[in-house]
Amino acid sequence: MSKFIASPATTLSGELKVPGDKSISHRSIMLGSLSKGVTKVSGFLKGEDALSTLKAFQAMGVEIERDGDNVIIHGVGINGLKKPQNPLNLGNSGTSIRLMSGILAAQAFDCELIGDESLSKRPMDRVINPLKEMGAVIDSNDGKPPLKITGGQKLKGIHYDLPVASAQVKSCVLLAGLYADGDTCVTEPTPTRDHTERMLKGLGYDVRVNANQMCLTGGGELTATEIQVPSDISSAAFFMVAAAIAPKSDVTLLGVNVNPTRTGVINILQLMGANLTLSNEREIGGELLADIRIQSSKLKGIHIPEALVPLAIDEFPAVFIAASCAQGETILTGAKELRVKESDRIQVMADGLNILGIENEVLEDGIKIQGGQFKKPTSMIESHHDHRISMSFAVASLRCDYPIEINGVDNVMTSFPNFVELSNSAGMSIVEV
Ligand code: S3P
Repeated sequence: MSKFIASPATTLSGELKVPGDKSISHRSIMLGSLSKGVTKVSGFLKGEDALSTLKAFQAMGVEIERDGDNVIIHGVGINGLKKPQNPLNLGNSGTSIRLMSGILAAQAFDCELIGDESLSKRPMDRVINPLKEMGAVIDSNDGKPPLKITGGQKLKGIHYDLPVASAQVKSCVLLAGLYADGDTCVTEPTPTRDHTERMLKGLGYDVRVNANQMCLTGGGELTATEIQVPSDISSAAFFMVAAAIAPKSDVTLLGVNVNPTRTGVINILQLMGANLTLSNEREIGGELLADIRIQSSKLKGIHIPEALVPLAIDEFPAVFIAASCAQGETILTGAKELRVKESDRIQVMADGLNILGIENEVLEDGIKIQGGQFKKPTSMIESHHDHRISMSFAVASLRCDYPIEINGVDNVMTSFPNFVELSNSAGMSIVEV
């Protein structure tokens, strides 16, 4: 088990390119595999999560070639997957297991989906319930992985009202809907990331979006195309916060995905007073990109608007570090979902902030954080093997007078394999031991 030692640093600068978007990388493999023809993907994230998806589709008979960030998928068509010989191990990846269960519920063969210790504790009822309504047969360990899917079921389209604002559940149901009889419609309580809908359209599938409802009709085909994966705003967020809190900084993050269903972190940091601007906005392959410049900022505490929560859901660990460095109190509510991510991100962040002497109050669905000065850590911070917790506390070193030790950082590889290298190139001082 490795740890980070993040030593104090005050300056952060440069033009940085963070790796490809995780959500789009997963979907490029899934939908490229189900397409007719050859899909060329560039900018693919070589993180362990996206690679779990890639290996799973290889295990189902899809020929996928890799050359650095480029991936070539020889699509097998919507009905071309083959029965895998072994259970599909999806590692740490919630997106893989939830989206793939929608695809696999509709196949002719049986299969089993398994994951690591963290994934094996995460709730899968949210996908099992709608899939069962569609006619799927799925066994689980009391609503958690492993998922045993019995193939050969004929699915029927449903109209599903999402009980939680979840892009994974929405995507799962829509992907099952590709195979279902008739129309499948999903209504979401508030907007969530829409990469599935965008990519399906890019591959020629008719997805009808009307306000907060997305519908498609089963039985169509996907046609291969080229997919350029933009940089991941969830990875860029660590540098946005880092540059905002560092005493001396001027950082530009190049070619970041600024799809409006993902930009909550930008809105939150701007509300907190961050010196953050977007430029060079452009559209590539149905996704919006921009360069984001952030300079040292005097942040103030805010009550985070609940409507922004699903739009920044993965960025809260980093936002909590910004809140710790802000003047006054930051209040987050309506974010219960954070408790069922790779770790309980409310409690695990609160525990780490306590170690750094930051006053906070844990709420059932959020947290109150009183901005202050990081103190000499009283012990090592435990990341609970959550990649985003590890990277967030590493960023805190920009406002610390003492080194911070963060334990269990192995899973940074799931989403941001070159985090340490890129951070150090920009002026931070992190070693992994
Ligand atoms: C994701 C959706 C979000 C997010 C996850 C990736 C996706 O999960 O937290 O990291 O790619 O669809 P939920 O749908 O559970 O909110």
